[in-house]
Amino acid sequence: MLVTELKKRNLPPIPARDEAIDLLCREEYGYLPPTPDAISFAVERNVIRSFCAGAATVDRITASCVIGETSFSFPFYVTLPTKEGKHPFFVMINFRRDVPDRYMPSEELIDSGFAVLSFSYTDVTSDDGDFTNGLAGVLYPDGVRGSRDAGKIAMWAWAAQRVMDYAETLDCLDLSCSVVCGHSRLGKTALLAAATDERFAYAYSNDSGCSGAAITRGKEGERVRDICQRFPYWFCENYQKYIDREDEMPFDQHWLIGAIAPRSVCVGSATEDRWADPHAEQLSCLAASEAYERLGRQGFVGGNAFAVEGESFFEGQIGYHLRRGLHYFSRHDWHRLIAFVQRKENEKNKK
Ligand code: GCU
Repeated sequence: MLVTELKKRNLPPIPARDEAIDLLCREEYGYLPPTPDAISFAVERNVIRSFCAGAATVDRITASCVIGETSFSFPFYVTLPTKEGKHPFFVMINFRRDVPDRYMPSEELIDSGFAVLSFSYTDVTSDDGDFTNGLAGVLYPDGVRGSRDAGKIAMWAWAAQRVMDYAETLDCLDLSCSVVCGHSRLGKTALLAAATDERFAYAYSNDSGCSGAAITRGKEGERVRDICQRFPYWFCENYQKYIDREDEMPFDQHWLIGAIAPRSVCVGSATEDRWADPHAEQLSCLAASEAYERLGRQGFVGGNAFAVEGESFFEGQIGYHLRRGLHYFSRHDWHRLIAFVQRKENEKNKK
């Protein structure tokens, strides 16, 4: 069933990684801003006292990035287990600064052994068509950008990579187990961050849907027209070309997942999130497998049927799980993500 459904979608085959990333940037997200010429971090320790009864500390960091003649700063939070050892960690691209947050159950993540580095996306640049503030204002001083210049998603992805720059300075983090994650528009962002930066060992997209994990061709719910009309600023201007011309796109979203190969990626969907389209998300996992197989790895392994609610497929390097319910980043999603990461880490250690 899955395989037959995929054939009907008539997807373009995935080219080599560099080519895939180049086309996705040029035609969809815009090119990510350049790596800063210099970066420094100001650290404010213990901004929340006795967090999790002393099981973790929370520091507030300000990253200052020099870009050409200008500079740009943004804050993020580092929640570290106080237990000795090297900790696997999440880079959580979030909607708010809060620690914990309704999309981020910090105490449970700490109890599972993970550190969390989180930031609020609007501290990077506003979630609207104003290109004069934050990072956008630094890149485009007059607020005007070219047709293939970064949209907001590419800027938020760039910021996740700066948080990774800081992670690299910490001895207590296990750099071989870094997971970039986000929900919805920020799930799209997490996939782009991992596709364009090999330092991320894992990516997790939660309910990212259109222009995220979901295949565009034949997709239900949100279409390129919907997203380009409501959120044109998430993308580069070139993406507008594909309104009602999705079959002519030289790429599709399985390229984005494929660009993460051979690293691990997990996609979470929710049964009632028809706007994101769980079937299109699962099909994308299957279609992206081509890039993994080329590198001698298994991509999505999960039989030939669409998932039923509560089902997870974690055997290959591309995981997929389907939760019951609405569009949300829930505790259940986190539990499935942690189970996926732990399984892949155990497999790595057995080799
Ligand atoms: C809207 C948008 C989606 C997006 C979502 C979100 O629903 O259409 O593409 O994923 O917002 O970010 O919450």
